[in-house]
Amino acid sequence: MKFPSLFSPLKVGPYQLQHRVVMAPLTRMRAEKPSLAPRPLNVEYYAQRATPGGLIIAEASPVVNTGFGSPGIPGIYSEQQIAGWRKVVDAVHAKGGIIFLQLWHVGRVSHSSFQPGGALPVAPSAVAISSEFKAMTAEGKVVEYETPRALETSEIPGVIDAYREGAKNALKAGFDGVEIHGANGYLIEQFLQSRSNLRTDQYGGSIENRVRFLMDVTKAVIEVWGANRVGVRLSPYGIANGSGEADPMPLYSHAIKSLDPLGLAYLHFIEPRSSGAGRAEVNHQNVPSAMVLYRPMWSGVLITAGGFTGETADAAIAAGHADAIAFGRIFISNPDLPRRLRRAYPITPYNRATFYGGEQKGYTDYPAHDEMAQA
Ligand SMILES: Cc1cc2nc3c(=O)[nH]c(=O)nc-3n(C[C@H](O)[C@H](O)[C@H](O)COP(=O)(O)O)c2cc1C
Repeated sequence: MKFPSLFSPLKVGPYQLQHRVVMAPLTRMRAEKPSLAPRPLNVEYYAQRATPGGLIIAEASPVVNTGFGSPGIPGIYSEQQIAGWRKVVDAVHAKGGIIFLQLWHVGRVSHSSFQPGGALPVAPSAVAISSEFKAMTAEGKVVEYETPRALETSEIPGVIDAYREGAKNALKAGFDGVEIHGANGYLIEQFLQSRSNLRTDQYGGSIENRVRFLMDVTKAVIEVWGANRVGVRLSPYGIANGSGEADPMPLYSHAIKSLDPLGLAYLHFIEPRSSGAGRAEVNHQNVPSAMVLYRPMWSGVLITAGGFTGETADAAIAAGHADAIAFGRIFISNPDLPRRLRRAYPITPYNRATFYGGEQKGYTDYPAHDEMAQA
């Protein structure tokens, strides 16, 4: 029997991938201001990374104007943003690529400076992120997190509707599917985890209740897209943005087993060893492997991310731990990453200083391997 590799084809929902090198969702804070719509620079960046039959998961994009926690993030709630995203999608499609959009609401990982009228950010409960983590204001200043305002039970359907609207807008923009951001300490994970969810209504308390918001959002998005074009991202055992469940196994087992029968396009993990990689260079030791722990509970396509190289990605796929591997940081610095991995070309190191905000530098100016050879 021949084992699948990083370069075996893979069916994801209705789409036939030609390889399994997925571009992970990557916040880059370079949208147009003040519209927060993707602009030509963003089109060029995604087009550089598109390959025939390659899956790109576009950066997390708030579904509503209360869902932001950093400046320069593209949204998916206005006509201008939909039009901007349409150009990104068209450019990726022109190269034969497949592109999903990650739907986002940051919840308490926001600051009143982002909120209409300077209101407090909303969250499942009025619990602030601890002071070891810092918030960023709309002006880019680093400050303490505020204590968010707990959503009323009566407001929750409105938040779920915002995800539904974001999903509809992504459909209008021409995306091939959407991924629900249930990872990294943002709103959905705040509902999942007991440290950020102290609610006593049907959205808090028991594991079943804490998983309810994730399930309600997922079902709302499925109504728009059909299950096989919807993915969900989770980060069990993660510690990003003040998250962390004391005993993650029962919580995430329940969540994954509840999602499994829905027939989603895929489930997508952030491996615990790389939790918080967006904020700092991490390589957590003595942590479990999400793909190894949860693969037996998931019957669909499983994508995972976190510090993979071509070799470790191939090994994970050959072992059956995952079906595809998402690459984040090295996809930033290697626009032609699938080809480089296939040919075992050297990998250009990334420059963390240019991850967030700015223009071309560290964004669209990383050369492809062949351009380097000519230089
Ligand atoms: C600059 C940067 C931005 C990121 N933005 C997002 C994001 O918008 N959504 C998300 O789910 N993960 C985000 N992540 C996490 C990555 O998708 C990925 O899971 C992580 O970097 C680990 O993969 P890697 O080791 O290949 O970089 C981000 C990471 C980095 C470095």
